[in-house]
Amino acid sequence: MLEIGTGTGYSSALMCHRPGEDNMTTIEVDPAVAARADAALETARFSTWTETGDGLLGYPRRAPYDRVIATCAVHRIPTPLSRQTKPGGTVQATVGGAWSYGTGLAKVTVGKDDTAEGRIIGRPSFMQARSQASGPGVRWPLRPHRLCRQ
Ligand SMILES: C[S@@+](CC[C@H](N)C(=O)[O-])C[C@H]1O[C@@H](n2cnc3c(N)ncnc32)[C@H](O)[C@@H]1O
Repeated sequence: MLEIGTGTGYSSALMCHRPGEDNMTTIEVDPAVAARADAALETARFSTWTETGDGLLGYPRRAPYDRVIATCAVHRIPTPLSRQTKPGGTVQATVGGAWSYGTGLAKVTVGKDDTAEGRIIGRPSFMQARSQASGPGVRWPLRPHRLCRQ
């Protein structure tokens, strides 16, 4: 399993109970946050694979994954994440518009032919991924935005 957005490490620790800690990889973009989470996970005796970097690129070294979960919001499911997921595996991420809060939890199942399909399964709100966050001059939420459902 791959988690994007380690944060405190709390959800990583919870996820260790499902695939097992040896199969848990988590990636955090902020080096200071990643170091804190790494220390916390170690103190709690979870030996997850914790990486620092842009999780929107996935983590090919440990791919392919059965499950990928982003705990930060993205404009769309990043292609590297679906490409690093096994056929039949799932990618789950909060997707939203160009403005801050993400508005729909998308869960897609990856196919054999470089495709993925799924639906919106919930309405959480997560901070936007670092590289996709609004600039400092932009106040949010600017206005409500509609989610496209297919
Ligand atoms: C809502 S918090 C995650 C909460 C976390 N799962 C927990 O249990 O504490 C979102 C995290 O995503 C990180 N983040 C933002 N953009 C990222 C990116 N492109 N790659 C990896 N992590 C990112 C943020 O620095 C932040 O720590």
